[in-house]
Amino acid sequence: MTLTIRPEEKSDFEKVGELTREAFWNLYRPGCDEHYLAHTMRDHPDFLGDLAHVAVLDGVIVGSILYMKSHVQNERDEQIETATFGPLCVDPRLQRQGIGTQLIEHTKRLVIGKGYPAIIILGDPHNYCKHGFKNGKDFNISSTDGRFPLGLLVLELKKGVFEDHRWRFKECAAYELDPEKVEAYDRRFPGKEKEHRYSQELFGMMIRAYLD
Ligand SMILES: CC(C)(COP(=O)(O)OP(=O)(O)OC[C@H]1O[C@@H](n2cnc3c(N)ncnc32)[C@H](O)[C@@H]1OP(=O)(O)O)[C@@H](O)C(=O)NCCC(=O)NCCS
Repeated sequence: MTLTIRPEEKSDFEKVGELTREAFWNLYRPGCDEHYLAHTMRDHPDFLGDLAHVAVLDGVIVGSILYMKSHVQNERDEQIETATFGPLCVDPRLQRQGIGTQLIEHTKRLVIGKGYPAIIILGDPHNYCKHGFKNGKDFNISSTDGRFPLGLLVLELKKGVFEDHRWRFKECAAYELDPEKVEAYDRRFPGKEKEHRYSQELFGMMIRAYLD
């Protein structure tokens, strides 16, 4: 079994879409929209194409990570450009075997090489604390409303870069999806049952949870 992490190519797009749909289906909501997100973000001006990578196991794509530019802005309206990943996914049959870790670690080195001082994501802390992510509150980075969502996670790559200021993070508009377009895009894929799962309740609690 040989696992390779390599840059995503155009010929991978279809397979990455299928994989993303499989990995996210019914996880955070009945059905999912992350495969449509992957499809649309590649055309967005903030897409960081050179950071898009796939994990390939014995010639088969089993993992994917996609990045966008993002930024934080402080109380003086000064901005710092940051990198944001997502969707990140691994074939459900191969999760918890280190593939996601390899995708993060490999691309993290590239993000450092590009000079970004931090990776900032909205995600489940369970998946990311292991990789050194901390809550935005630890760096005084809030969402645009000034609150500190549990899932606003920051991996500081240049020590002290956020010191002495209050910052607000706004996810790239590419992450805001039109549900009708998601549905229309999903019809290109084989039919799949939408179901209610307890993981959706957990997710619903997480996105309503804030740090004091
Ligand atoms: C999240 C995901 C990309 C991680 O990839 P992976 O290959 O499974 O990850 P790894 O095996 O490298 O590491 C998994 C680690 O995540 C953490 N983790 C993941 N799920 C967890 C959970 N439910 N509870 C606690 N820790 C969890 C653990 O630290 C775990 O490490 P361990 O197995 O050594 O304890 C993959 O599970 C996935 O595709 N999930 C579905 C899609 C998704 O949720 N993507 C992320 C959106 S926030």
